[in-house]
Amino acid sequence: MPALSNPLLLKWFNAFMRLSQRALSPWVQHAADIRLPLRGECRAGQVYLVGAGSGDAELLTLKAARLLMQADAVVYDRLVGDDVLALIPGGSERYYVGKARGHHSVPQAEIGALMVKLAREGKSVVRLKGGDPAVFARMGEELDALAAAEIPAAIVPGITAASAAAACMGIPLTDRGHAQQLRFVTAQLCREDGSPDWASLARKDETLVFYMGLSKVSAICHGLRQAGLPDEWPIMLVANASQPEQQSLVGSLADMPEQLAATPLPSPCLIVVGSVVQRVATSPALKTTDIAQPYSSDL
Ligand SMILES: C[S@@+](CC[C@H](N)C(=O)[O-])C[C@H]1O[C@@H](n2cnc3c(N)ncnc32)[C@H](O)[C@@H]1O
Repeated sequence: MPALSNPLLLKWFNAFMRLSQRALSPWVQHAADIRLPLRGECRAGQVYLVGAGSGDAELLTLKAARLLMQADAVVYDRLVGDDVLALIPGGSERYYVGKARGHHSVPQAEIGALMVKLAREGKSVVRLKGGDPAVFARMGEELDALAAAEIPAAIVPGITAASAAAACMGIPLTDRGHAQQLRFVTAQLCREDGSPDWASLARKDETLVFYMGLSKVSAICHGLRQAGLPDEWPIMLVANASQPEQQSLVGSLADMPEQLAATPLPSPCLIVVGSVVQRVATSPALKTTDIAQPYSSDL
């Protein structure tokens, strides 16, 4: 364009282009066009133990998204959401190793052997787990299997269910006025005849988060009350945290078993016990309609 060889005209032309691009950007820039800093390799013969977060694909880390798009093979669990799986390119290999309805999960040794086989074939492998791979996800056994076969491994953390559930319910897990400690507990031991250390769990300065406890809610409420927590002590249940079908119940140790019997929640479900749960009722992050059963005691 000969006219634009004039430096002054060129300057004005460029300024005009910049301004018009900025003015049009809200209409023309789609989310997919935004350039994210996705750099880094996905090595052949290596296994990446990656956290998929709690279900909402937007809670995936950038690193997890990049590895999913790059890996030759993805080995994944039941709690990984469809939107996250949609990031895996069509040409990549996928292996589902979660529990099928009415069936047991693939044995841990078989999952280890599969990862070793894929890595030995020279593939880059993502082992994708719901939430954070280091929280109640048998990552230790998988690291051991890889180490025994001398396969290099790397860990990519994810957003664990506790963080997702607290965020979706609009509360902090620790709050200086409520909890000075936070404990993640597997509810596996919390059966009626089980023997968790109830006395050590029944503290008023702590938030307890029970994973895998939906069928043990009565035992948990009973054990904590027997060990000294008051009947009115706050508890909340959050099912499918961070997903469109999220459901919750908020109440007390005394009334939660009855509430759950009247309004059964689906799995996966997280249980949060502690005075910080009181904040659900007043959280500005929630509309009242977001709360299935607003907590109403003034403990
Ligand atoms: C085997 S553990 C896996 C935990 C996972 N690694 C994490 O960091 O969230 C499965 C348990 O996590 C909890 N969980 C996982 N995803 C959840 C979700 N979206 N909402 C509520 N609870 C969830 C439930 O207690 C479920 O029984």
